[in-house]
Amino acid sequence: MSSGTTTPVSRIAIVGVGQVGGAAAYALVLSSTASELLLVDIKIDLRDAQVRDLSDVAYSSNSSTRVRAATYHEAGQCDIVVITAGSKRTLGQTSIESTYRNISIVRNVVNAMKPFRSDTILLVVANPVDLLTSLAQKLSRLPASQVLGSGTFLDSVRLRGLMADRIGVAANSIDIYALGVHGDSQVVAWSTATIGGVPIDKSLSSENLIDRTGLAKECKHRSESIIRAKGATPFGMGSIVSSICSSILVDKHNVRPISHFQPEFGCCFSLPAVLGRKGIMRTIQMPLDSDEAAEIAESARKLRSELDGIQE
Ligand code: 2OP
Repeated sequence: MSSGTTTPVSRIAIVGVGQVGGAAAYALVLSSTASELLLVDIKIDLRDAQVRDLSDVAYSSNSSTRVRAATYHEAGQCDIVVITAGSKRTLGQTSIESTYRNISIVRNVVNAMKPFRSDTILLVVANPVDLLTSLAQKLSRLPASQVLGSGTFLDSVRLRGLMADRIGVAANSIDIYALGVHGDSQVVAWSTATIGGVPIDKSLSSENLIDRTGLAKECKHRSESIIRAKGATPFGMGSIVSSICSSILVDKHNVRPISHFQPEFGCCFSLPAVLGRKGIMRTIQMPLDSDEAAEIAESARKLRSELDGIQE
């Protein structure tokens, strides 16, 4: 019997449905986050095979998400567009080659989706994520608050998990962020880290003290070790994408370390932000110590000059 009310249709598009896009779609189908999941890829056979495979997941898990193939133009009319195209590193490719390749992919897919629906949220996942998010923000002509990148969210999750394993405290009782430009120059904000709300310097006993440098290094190199063996980090990224999409569509106002536009530097990188249906609701100003703030500012300035050298 009908209740007489209709649930609003919510749509998420995934552009690029290889390893990372496929895993993100899988996580989104299992969580029934949107009513429709639109898959877009230049490789039509791959796209259609992913639609069939993921529809089987929807049937078997009783998901309320319907999966279908779509065009770039349809993707630009969705509530959220996730750009994973270019997120797989080809073996033997140097990072400069893969950067230029991904700049060209992001430029092409963003232009193919334009004009966007005025309230669409764009989520960039491909690397170098902060450069590509900054570029997508310029090209899309969407308000800065509606263009985000996965940034250091997965790094922060990894850091929390590794620390939880070391000290025997549940990961969700630990607050610690990797911030700044994702990759070699990301910065662990030790000065603001807490366990159960207590600063880590005060909450860890002397036998529980952790090797900060070792932990930050392990976190930074984790993706490299996964990529070396399997080309991408699909499950980690897929689960992050699903979490970000749910924060947006359900208007949760979660605080997440994700890449977004920083007016002071003129480019996008990660600082904790409140995430809701309109994208970035606001940035949380962290009381970082002067070394952490200086390191973040230096890599942001480097990113800005790289961005200035790229043609729209
Ligand atoms: C990651 O950190 C590769 O950026 C991706 O897993």
